[in-house]
Parts: sequence; structure tokens; C-alpha cells
Amino acid sequence: MKSIWMLGSRGVAVHAPLAEDVEVDVAIVGAGITGLTAALALAEAGLRVMVLEAATVGAGVTGGSTGNLYATLASGQAPLRRKWGDQVSADVVRARVEAIDHIETLISRYAIDCQFQRQPAYRLLSEDRQQARHDLNDELDALISAGLGAEMSDGPGLPFDSWGIRIANQAQFNPLQYVQGLADRLLGEGVVIHQHCPVREIDAVKGVVRTDEASIAAKHIVQATHTPKGISLVQAGMLVSREYAVSAKLRSGEYPEGIIWILDPFHSLRSYRHGDEQYLMVIGEKHKTGEHHGDHYQKLREYFESRFDIEAFTHQWSAQQYGSPDGLPYIGRMHGHGNLYMATGFAADGLVWGTLAGRIIADQVLERDNPWQARFGARRITPGKSVLQYAKENATVTKHMVKDYFGTEKLKSFDIIGPGQARVATVDGEKLAIHRTEAGELKVLSAVCPHMKCIVHWNASESTWDCPCHGSRFDTEGEVIEGPAYHPLARVEGHG
Ligand code: FES
Repeated sequence: MKSIWMLGSRGVAVHAPLAEDVEVDVAIVGAGITGLTAALALAEAGLRVMVLEAATVGAGVTGGSTGNLYATLASGQAPLRRKWGDQVSADVVRARVEAIDHIETLISRYAIDCQFQRQPAYRLLSEDRQQARHDLNDELDALISAGLGAEMSDGPGLPFDSWGIRIANQAQFNPLQYVQGLADRLLGEGVVIHQHCPVREIDAVKGVVRTDEASIAAKHIVQATHTPKGISLVQAGMLVSREYAVSAKLRSGEYPEGIIWILDPFHSLRSYRHGDEQYLMVIGEKHKTGEHHGDHYQKLREYFESRFDIEAFTHQWSAQQYGSPDGLPYIGRMHGHGNLYMATGFAADGLVWGTLAGRIIADQVLERDNPWQARFGARRITPGKSVLQYAKENATVTKHMVKDYFGTEKLKSFDIIGPGQARVATVDGEKLAIHRTEAGELKVLSAVCPHMKCIVHWNASESTWDCPCHGSRFDTEGEVIEGPAYHPLARVEGHG
């Protein structure tokens, strides 16, 4: 899976692997937009900062995002206003406007070449105008009341009938080039960045982060990992989902500009220019992580072909989202710890929330006031606004625990698994995740997720093992790709 942003990727000249114990002021786990935004503010304040990244800079959800920067939420301003009221709706917009402005400031201050451009955003209907007119009016009213410049519009000239709302002065960039630019700046500030360095344990009481090779003693530990590692109460109510992206070249050579959300059903479109080449990408086919229904990329390609004259498909990739139970992110100091920080619940809107999170967390570490830390605090409790999703997600976990433990097929022979196929099965009383590579090699892992013991499911679109309970994902060797699990799926020897 390679996102379109890899076209402009040049990597980052990071440090050699960490081989011995060290001591720092702040250890940041995760080199995405949240971690690097925080790292920059902390390094500029004179703190000794180390960033530990399991893969490479920006390779997680930052590099799998759309590169769209908007002050509203992809799920709409009106639902947020209904849930939280006018004040919070306006606060969300103000906080997100500040975060986008901060990104723009850093880009110009450090001359980061990442194609940042101010662009409008559109929320469009493409079919039944009458049916959803009321919803659009409601949305327009919520956007204007929250302080955004919005108006009815016919859209950016798509090759199919569309109309809806235009929101002025949003932005787009290349998210991977942006975080690589931040990483360059951090290296100049003396920050140490280790790639391919998965964290295996965080001991907040002792103030220690452990990797396979070393221990890092830190006064502050920031989990910029999209969801906190290990077991945390906040995971219980999160809706974890995946969304897919496909990019293509168009025969017409005409690429629409702006952030384009088609609402019926929800798909996101945007264009991107790399050198002399232009591309259009479409994002959609969202589903709960670990619950797969057919070939998500194929469905997305079919949608794309039904609306545009495609010359060739070029890239496909996917990304994970964590939707919080009350609709706002959880950012900052965690319950029970004065030195442990997290940022999660960004839903589909993570580039802007991640930037805000980096700033809030840096201010907390530095004991500076931040106007948004109370609004988006990680310790807030909002039962009236979150109880429904808590109940739903806990029911999902219970359903998977029961169904997957008792409903797994018994496998008598591995021979029935052909090249490229995979399945979860019970063998000699053990739940196994079994995959045969295209070359015919059998890879057998324990199917029991090391996080909280749910059973993983095969994701055929990505060739990964995905856990339906809290979104941990593993590659075919069992190594953790993302999610709260610290440790790989156990290898099971003696088969094959
Ligand atoms: Fe929690 Fe797998 S991610 S049990």
C-alpha cells in the first residue's frame, strides 16, 4: 500500500538505531503530525526531546490522509452543533482555524516545500436535490453561525450534476512533505528521531519508555500514536474505522480544485499535482476496522469510474480513524498521571486536530496556558453526550469476543488455504491466523490479539490482520502496524 504522497517523498536523514539507555526531558512516541508539532514547540523552548517512530516519519495515518485542512468537521457542522450547542460549535471552528494558520506559519517560517494552498471546501449533493435541501440549509446555518464564510454553490465544475455549500478559505497540502519538513527542522534543533523503533512498554510511574534495545528515561511521555498504547479507558468508547483511497489520471485532463465532499453517499475528492502530472483521488468505503465486506478498493474504483472518465488508476491506500464517543478529540494529560499525554478521537479530521494537539500538549509540558486544553481535555467526562457510543462499542467488543471465540471453524488441513488466501481457524484447540503467500509459504500466527485477547480478522484489501475490538493491526509476520497493542501476534511454529 503506497499513498500518492510517496511520489514526493525523499525520506528524512534520521539518527542511527537506538542501542543504549538514555535520558531526555520528553519522549514522544510517534512521528506523525501530532508528535512532530509538539516536538518542535518543546525543542524551541530548550527541552531535550527524543522521537521514537515504529516505521518512518509520517508513514502512519498522517501520510495516509487526504492532505485536506478545514475548520469544520467532515461529518458536518450541524450534527456537532446539535450535540454540543452554538458555543462549542464556534470553539471547534476557532481552534481549527488557529491550527491551520499555525501550519501555514511554520511552512513559511521554515520554507517547507509541501504545496500548501488556500482552497475552498464543498459539501455537495449529486442526486436528489429536494430530499436533502433541508439538511443542507441546516448545515449552512451551522457553518455561518460558527463563524465560517459559507454560501450555496454549484460546486467546482464536476462532470456530473452537483450543488451544495461552498466554504471559503480552507487549505490543502502534501502532508508527508510537511512532516518531513518538520523533521528536518527538528534535526536542526537537536531533536533525536529514531525510525523503525517500536515502543514495547510505557511505564509512566517510573517515567520510562522501553524499546527492543533500550530504555529511555523521560520526565514527560507523549503518546502521539493516534490512540494510546496499552490499555486505556478511552479505548472503550472509540469507533475505530478504516477508509480507503484511490487515485487516478483523467482522460479529460480537467481536475477539479478544492476539498470536495459528495454527501450521497459520502465520498471525498481532491486533485494533486506532482511535477507535470495531475491526479484526482477519491476517498470512501469506510467500515469498522476488522469487519470487512468485499473488495473495498474495487468498490471505490467502480464509484470513480461511474463519475469520471478514468485514463488509469495510479495509487491506492487506506487509513484508520478513531471517532470519540462525544464527537470531540481527547488531548493532553491522561487520568492518573502528571507526566503522560495522549491525543486521540480525531475521526476523519486528524491533520488539524493533530496540529492543535501538538500545541496543547507542548503547552501542558511547558506549564503554559492554552485556551483549548479544557475544551478538548483528555480527562473530561461527558456521559450525556457519549453514553450511546460507549454502549454500542462495548456491545461490539462483546459480540466479537463471543462470536469469534466460539464460531471459528475447525481446520483439519492447511492444504485448503491456497496462495494469497488467509483465514482464522481453530487447530488443536488454538485460534490461529493462517496466511499462505502468493509464493506458497505458510505463515501461522496466534489469532489472539495481544492487546485484550480479541480474535483478529483478515483484511484482504491490505493483507493485514486487523482486530475488531480496538483497532490494533498486524502485518503477515505478526508485527504491529498500528493501534494500542505493544507486541506482535505470536508466531506458531511447527506448521507448514
Ligand atoms: Fe484491543 Fe485487539 S485491539 S483486543
